[in-house]
Amino acid sequence: MPEFATPFRGNKFDRKLTKEELIRAIRFSIASEYEAIQLYEQLSESIDNEDAKNLLLEVADDEKEHAGNFLYLLKLLSPEEEKHYKEGFEEAQEVIKGEK
Ligand SMILES: [Fe+2]
Repeated sequence: MPEFATPFRGNKFDRKLTKEELIRAIRFSIASEYEAIQLYEQLSESIDNEDAKNLLLEVADDEKEHAGNFLYLLKLLSPEEEKHYKEGFEEAQEVIKGEK
């Protein structure tokens, strides 16, 4: 799992999370999905068992869907953050197209 601090440490809180804490937990969840994708794809590339390879790659695709689920939720919870991502996309597009 990701190396940065977990918001839970295995136990539920004795109170409800604030919106900001939920947003951080969703970011952590997205990072966990990406880490799982990395693990399953790396493992599939490191073995010869075709059944295991196929299953690992299918599960990796499932994790990509989960990442999409959480990215959508993050967009709903933090529209301000979404604006920064859009700015990053546009900037990257300009650099790649040679406009910047
Ligand atoms: Fe997942």
